[in-house]
Amino acid sequence: MTRSPSELLEVHDVLAERFAVHQEKLIAGELAVAEEHLEAYSSALRVHVRSEEELVIPAFEALGLDCERGRSELYRAEHAKILWWLDELRRGLAALRAGGGDVRAVIALLDREGTFKRVMEHHDLREREYLYPLLDEHASEVERRELWDALELLEEAPLPAIAPDEAAAE
Ligand SMILES: [Fe+2]
Ligand SMILES: [Fe+2]
Repeated sequence: MTRSPSELLEVHDVLAERFAVHQEKLIAGELAVAEEHLEAYSSALRVHVRSEEELVIPAFEALGLDCERGRSELYRAEHAKILWWLDELRRGLAALRAGGGDVRAVIALLDREGTFKRVMEHHDLREREYLYPLLDEHASEVERRELWDALELLEEAPLPAIAPDEAAAE
């Protein structure tokens, strides 16, 4: 039996855990380590968004599964918002480190990260309620297998590295 599309949702939990470790390091004042964790998180999140934009959402569209609260353009719009936030946080942490990392600046960054986490939770819920359950229900065995084969291939392809400054200039 081929894996269900919704097994890809496990990535959301892995991502949330990685972000939590980044925040632990931020609170501990270990800014260089916090930055390493944020960069690892950023790469993993970009890989996941690419998988959804290039394969999962097109499969959802091809099966005609758009519904009012689960329209494909909503997922894409939320991804754009998430990636914007991600670069905002990377720039914020770079500025925090450059400024010496005083405690008030750490609190300000944590506040912004709280907003980002709410955006992520909202997006997780939409995909968990509509995108993946509908695909699970309607994709045939062959379509599931084709999706997973393509996902495995795509996830091996490297992402171009984007520094926060370059992202700001885009
Ligand atoms: Fe996702
Ligand atoms: Fe997504």
